[in-house]
Amino acid sequence: MRSVVGFGQALDELEALVARSGSAAAQAVVDYLHDRFPHYAWVGLYWVDGPDLVLGEWKGPEATEHTRIRIGTGVCGAAAASGKTEVVADVSQDPRYLACFPYTKSEIVVPIFRDGRVIGEIDIDGTRLGAFGPDDQTFLERVAALLARLR
Ligand code: SME
Repeated sequence: MRSVVGFGQALDELEALVARSGSAAAQAVVDYLHDRFPHYAWVGLYWVDGPDLVLGEWKGPEATEHTRIRIGTGVCGAAAASGKTEVVADVSQDPRYLACFPYTKSEIVVPIFRDGRVIGEIDIDGTRLGAFGPDDQTFLERVAALLARLR
């Protein structure tokens, strides 16, 4: 998928953004991902709170009703439980999927680790089937490492 910036340049810009944004850095990262990558239709961060994931920073066309998700539930909860990135090419074919938006066709969820434990995750919805590929996964896992430093 064509993007406004390449992934390499984006990582450099995100490093700089995090360095200058202080306590607003996580929201700045979310805004950057949403605004610079047209196929990232809805971008959110969930943070682990005991047995749950709680929605933190997000940007997209509308709010989700899924502001608290039990770890182990949904695609988000699966990624938090396993510590593995989930790439769902067609959400209608995944029985774990918790529907948020009528336009979502695909989803990627990338865990954020600190000290070997999942502390949160990046959740991105796409509006076309198979919107996310291996390059998105590699890129977003690096973004997750940047976000881990903020907590
Ligand atoms: N679809 C997610 C829930 C979060 S919304 O996409 C924002 C899931 O299946 O866990």
